[in-house]
Amino acid sequence: MKPKQRIFVVGGALTPFIGKFHPDFIWKGHEDFGKRENPTLEDYVVNSIREALENTGVDADQIDRGYIGNFAGQLFANQGHLGAMAVRADEKFDGKPFSRVEGACASGGLAVLSGVDALHSGSDVVLAAGAEVQTTVKAREGAGYLARAAHWDEERDIDEFTFPAMFARRAKHYKEAFGATEEEIAHVTVKAYENANKNPYAHMREVSMALEHAAKAGEKNPNFLANEELKPHLKMSDCSQVSDGGAALILATEAGLERLGIDESDCIELVSWGHATGALGRVDDFTELGTTKKAASRVYDDGGITPEDVDVAEVHDCFAVTECLMYEALGFADRGEGAKLAAEGQTRLDGSIPVNTGGGLIAFGHPVGATGVKQVLEIYRQMKGLCGDYQLPETPSVGLTANMGGDDRTAVCMGWKNL
Ligand code: CAA
Repeated sequence: MKPKQRIFVVGGALTPFIGKFHPDFIWKGHEDFGKRENPTLEDYVVNSIREALENTGVDADQIDRGYIGNFAGQLFANQGHLGAMAVRADEKFDGKPFSRVEGACASGGLAVLSGVDALHSGSDVVLAAGAEVQTTVKAREGAGYLARAAHWDEERDIDEFTFPAMFARRAKHYKEAFGATEEEIAHVTVKAYENANKNPYAHMREVSMALEHAAKAGEKNPNFLANEELKPHLKMSDCSQVSDGGAALILATEAGLERLGIDESDCIELVSWGHATGALGRVDDFTELGTTKKAASRVYDDGGITPEDVDVAEVHDCFAVTECLMYEALGFADRGEGAKLAAEGQTRLDGSIPVNTGGGLIAFGHPVGATGVKQVLEIYRQMKGLCGDYQLPETPSVGLTANMGGDDRTAVCMGWKNL
């Protein structure tokens, strides 16, 4: 789809993404254990929104509508109704139309698209935020909560770690079909940690990852699935993190920019987007992300851009193999060649197509509802030179985001240009 009028990202904010292995994450070995608690879901929603207003200089009164992406607040935090929760961020939001948007791990991308829809139907300044808290339970229990993004009756029993197992299945099929190796795929993980080590907001900012560790299972990097057939195809280092965090951004039309007194040169612009959905539990080819491919082709066809035009991308690397499949679905690599693209270093900060420059879901972290919003914000931050130690040497002109829900069942891709 192409916007019917010009649509801009004015800016936004994100909280640090934290969880196990982050220095600020409170757990029983932490020196502050018992003295302070980790931030709550409310903190992430409210703080990211307040900071987005502060960073952009937008007054809450100027916001026409708000959308909050969140997947499983009821399960992890006993909290739903996050549209109304977001209104607690500022008393001037009181009475404005705010709502929650859910599409599994694509909830954040859908919150941004809901904002785009609102701008098409008369609003001029819209807030799109996302947040998730997942560290309130052990990873195994959380895996059961996340399994609600699969078809519960048909897919839950593949493994107690349902999603890790679903992507182990993709890794198995991918390796068998194209001869990709564990080591090639491990380059995705190593790059993710390298980038996150340069990013103060990243969950794994202080954890290093060597190729020898990521490429091979071992005592410290176990194949942890119970499903015997899939177990050899997923190591702990292949996985995205169980993170808490929030992100918020502000979208505006040209009239909105005028109202805010913001110059378009301080913004990035939406070129085109694609939103595709596949039936739950009905993946017919595990060696490709067919739904993401459909969404991406809409970005390219409708926006008049090609994969070669893309200077920076944020893609949904929920597992290392997913990023390889993303390269192919987005046209950065030919079918079966995604792992090679990673192994060649082409997607590193100094490569031909830098991907997930702040560490991706694997090392920046994956607070599910925040992820799709954070992706857009990362493109904005790269385009505006705000990425500090992981800033790309050349300012990108064209960017792409690809956010995915479930096993490639909901896909939201967006093309962006710098102004
Ligand atoms: N040897 C053998 N087994 C070991 C082991 C060792 N040295 N260390 C751990 N294990 C096994 C254990 O069985 C353990 O489980 P239990 O303790 O419950 O028995 C299991 O591995 C996990 O270990 P931990 O709980 O200690 O692991 P952790 O807390 O460090 O978490 C992780 C690691 C399980 C990989 C976790 O980070 C994770 O689940 N990541 C994936 C998160 C995820 O799936 N997100 C959603 C992605 S899908 C998506 O994005 C789309 C969508 O819509 C959902």
